[in-house]
Amino acid sequence: MSLQEKIQDRSAKIAVVGLGYVGLPLATRCAGVGLRTFGIDIQQARVDRINRGESDIGDVPSEELAPLVKSGMLSAHTTFDVIGEADAVAICVPTPLSKTRDPDNSYIIAALDMIGPHMKAGQLFVLESTTYPGFTREVMAELLEKAKGLKAGVDFHIAFSPERIDPGNERYGVKNTTKIVGGLTAECGKAVQAMYSAFIDNVKIVSSPDTAEMVKLLENTFRAVNIGLVNEVAMMCRKLGLNVFEVIEAAATKPFGFMPFYPGPGLGGHCIPIDPLYLSWKLKSMNYQARFIELADAINTAMPAHVVGRVQDALNDQSRALKGAKVLVLGVAYKRDIDDFRESPAILVIDLMEKKGAKVDYYDPHVPSFREDGHVRSSIADLSKLADYDVAVITTDHRAFDFQDIVERAKLVVDTRNATKNVATHRERIYGL
Ligand SMILES: NC(=O)c1ccc[n+]([C@@H]2O[C@H](COP(=O)([O-])OP(=O)(O)OC[C@H]3O[C@@H](n4cnc5c(N)ncnc54)[C@H](O)[C@@H]3O)[C@@H](O)[C@H]2O)c1
Repeated sequence: MSLQEKIQDRSAKIAVVGLGYVGLPLATRCAGVGLRTFGIDIQQARVDRINRGESDIGDVPSEELAPLVKSGMLSAHTTFDVIGEADAVAICVPTPLSKTRDPDNSYIIAALDMIGPHMKAGQLFVLESTTYPGFTREVMAELLEKAKGLKAGVDFHIAFSPERIDPGNERYGVKNTTKIVGGLTAECGKAVQAMYSAFIDNVKIVSSPDTAEMVKLLENTFRAVNIGLVNEVAMMCRKLGLNVFEVIEAAATKPFGFMPFYPGPGLGGHCIPIDPLYLSWKLKSMNYQARFIELADAINTAMPAHVVGRVQDALNDQSRALKGAKVLVLGVAYKRDIDDFRESPAILVIDLMEKKGAKVDYYDPHVPSFREDGHVRSSIADLSKLADYDVAVITTDHRAFDFQDIVERAKLVVDTRNATKNVATHRERIYGL
């Protein structure tokens, strides 16, 4: 029986390796349409939590997860032997940057090393972790081939399919976001299309894994470059004495040829600050300099220092220095209404201000605490002592914040998100980007 037929009659079994922001929603979707799903993760605590039916991923409610675990459709494991039972294996492990800001594919390679001894002929292996063009074909296929002496595209299927999840997006989720798939051969493409079509409305096959890898990098480079552009426009508007947000909102009334992007304290999350550097790294190895990516990266990574400059401007107008000032940072999640603080620019803003001698606290109802460089930092409990701080810095525009109240009670506000745009009173306290 082919994988396509097994998927159709729901006898296919799926393994999802890496149960984080990408893997857990995928495993839940597979199990939800009646495909027996094994989740694999190296974190014992995460596996135990999932097997209790508890989700720690915002886009997967525990009410959705628990019945799937209870019915046996979804189980989580720390060992890889279940790979031998699976018909298709999706890999969703992290792909961060190294200390030197080069691609770190070591998590994928570690996962492949653990998968290898359990693989069988006829299986489908699909990589969802973002990587550079050529990785699936050159590195992943070769590692799997070495494990058992099987041939990619002949004895087993292999493909790349980028995850396009937008955490917290209430309109577009896994089901109604078109899935891009690129198989090593036409057969690989059809196999991976069959798998995703079971729970995603539209699946688009592209001609190769390399193309699918490049699609993902184009999408995220497009965002990084456009955000870099508006961040630079924000600097220009400051010099010109203009409100950059007013300019963007007005430009966005044009129904064609313009798409609004907004400036802010810098890029955050596991994708936009990182993925374009996978592309520029690959091109560097081919003696080509990806200039747009490097320029956008330089502008975007300078934004936290710009925010600190604005805090200094605000204090300076009160004849105060940042050194010794009490500062409250509002929001460490990298975007509104989520709990993900990876690569968050707010953390850099905190570090930079502390280095200059400020006493910094933070408040984020979505992130009660976070660990950075081995030390844990906790949110203050509430905003009852807001008036005790010399300045409040809005780094995330969570809907839980009452910005009218914040402006009324704070001595000074640095607003990096235009969150206070509807506050009419005490505007003299507010400093924009
Ligand atoms: N989070 C997003 O919004 C998003 C969106 C699109 C693409 N991506 C990409 O998807 C991939 C995964 O990202 P994420 O946000 O889900 O990461 P994550 O850190 O939330 O989850 C990754 C999981 O993989 C596990 N893991 C690490 N090494 C493992 C191994 N060898 N075997 C099994 N499990 C292992 C970790 O314990 C963790 O639970 C990355 O390449 C990322 O760039 C993420």
